[in-house]
Parts: sequence; structure tokens; C-alpha cells
Amino acid sequence: MGTFREERRGPVEIWTLDAEDTRNAISRAVLAELESRVARVSGGQEVRAVVITGAGDKAFCAGADLKERATMSEAEVRAFLGGLRRTMRAVETSSTIFIAAINGSALGGGTELALACDLRIAAPAAELGLTEVRLGIIPGGGGTQRLPRLVGPGRAKDLILTGRRLNAAEAFAIGLVQRLAPEGRLLEVALSVAEQIAENAPLAVSAAKRAIDRGLDLDMEAALALELEQYETVLRSEDRLEGLRAFAEKRRPVWKGR
Ligand code: COA
Repeated sequence: MGTFREERRGPVEIWTLDAEDTRNAISRAVLAELESRVARVSGGQEVRAVVITGAGDKAFCAGADLKERATMSEAEVRAFLGGLRRTMRAVETSSTIFIAAINGSALGGGTELALACDLRIAAPAAELGLTEVRLGIIPGGGGTQRLPRLVGPGRAKDLILTGRRLNAAEAFAIGLVQRLAPEGRLLEVALSVAEQIAENAPLAVSAAKRAIDRGLDLDMEAALALELEQYETVLRSEDRLEGLRAFAEKRRPVWKGR
């Protein structure tokens, strides 16, 4: 049964999907654990960023567990999908920042998990793809909605309708991944990005995430009003005053998250 390994580095947690025998596929057990992990970090202020990666050098995550799927009734697939969609949305709307460190194949739900994260960083061996139509289904973990928002509808259709896989360089070229890590340095790069984010004011980081994500679905007037509303949440914060004091005193700020 697949599960996660966890490592803590100060304000950053690394979650390694650890089910190599199924290429880190998402079984019901993996999904249940992911959902409770996301709820735990989102419910507190301690963990500022999470790096999600896969065990081994073959796969980040091979999508839904297709062996388990073959044993499931239609109703059970529906229930699984409900949990998957809820979990992806919880990642996306969390005040914690999620970074997918894509170490190998990320297919179907694997790419959807990466899409729900805030940033995607790829190793040279990474391959991504929403391959569902090849299996007689469509992406059901948000892929048809998140991919076009990230790379545009034309590129999303190219990828989703063909179900083809793309390598790290192409994924980077179209903006599906934000950074490429050199061979053997994926976690180092992902951690350094996570730590850089975690050094910043917590309320400011989560307000900026909300402003970007929620604003994408609004027209420009409404989106700019949303930005202002999010600015208000930091304007009233103690950390804003700490930021100004630290600047004047030429020291690093000590954030309180309020
Ligand atoms: N669910 C369950 N088991 C999976 C799986 C999945 N999504 N993907 C791979 N596996 C299993 C294989 O069945 C195999 O098990 P076996 O040893 O009992 O035969 C094992 O993982 C290794 O798979 P293999 O294909 O030999 O590994 P690989 O390293 O050569 O390739 C992948 C890895 C991920 C590229 C390849 O397995 C693949 O394409 N998987 C299908 C993924 C997919 O289509 N996902 C979309 C779901 S919508």
C-alpha cells in the first residue's frame, strides 16, 4: 500500500510519494493520506511550503492507480474522483505554498497534482502528460481547467486531445513547468525556492497567491478590486510595520504572521 515519506527542513516539509511498485500512483490510501496532510498544513502557520516529489527515478506520479481502478465499481470511481477533486482544490486554495518537484513521469493525475501546486520544477528525466483520452476517460482532477489557464487553450488542446507526453524542455518552453533543475539537483533547487518563499511575510505570500489565483477568473476591473482587497489584509498587519522597521534597521525581519 502506497504512502508518503516526510522530511522537515525548518518551515518547509518534503513529502515523497512512496509507492514505487505502482510508479507512485494515486490509490485510495494515497489520496486519503494526501487529503489529511493538506488539511494539517493548511490549518496551521508552521509549515510555510511543501515540496511534493516521487520516490525513485522513474516516476513523480503515474496518475490514478489503474490496478485498483480495475477493481472499482462506477460508484466507487465517482467517489474517488470526488476525493481527488476536493484534494486538488485544497492544495490550490491552501495558504501554504506547494511546489511539485517532478523527478520522472507525471501522467494523468500526476500532472494534475503538479498543476494544482503553485510551482512546478522539473528534473531532466521528467515527462508530463494528460493521457486520459488514451484510456477512454478525460482528466477529472481539474486538468481540463488548470492546464488551459496555465498554458492557454490551444496548447492545452494539443496536449489533452492527443494525450501525448512532453519532456522537461518542452514543458518548460510552454510554461507548464517554471524551472528546470540540473541532473541530480532537483530537491536542492526545489528546496531553495521553497526556502526563499518561506523567508517572506506569511500573510503577504498567501494574499499574493489568492490575488493571482482568484483574479484569473475575473475581468480586469474586478481583478484589480480583488488585488486591493488582498492588499488591505496586509496593510493592517503587524508584519507590514516589522518589514519597515527591519528595512530601517538594516536587519532581517522577524515575521509573526499577523
Ligand atoms: N497504476 C497502477 N500501476 C501502475 C501505474 C498506474 N497508473 N503505472 C505503472 N504501474 C505499474 C505497472 O503496471 C508495473 O507493474 P508490474 O510490475 O506489476 O507490471 C509497474 O508499475 C512498473 O511499470 P512500468 O511501465 O514497467 O514502469 P516504467 O518505469 O517503464 O514506466 C510509466 C513508468 C509511469 C511511464 C509507465 O508505467 C506508464 O506509462 N504508466 C501508465 C500511466 C498512465 O497512463 N497514467 C494515466 C492514468 S489516467
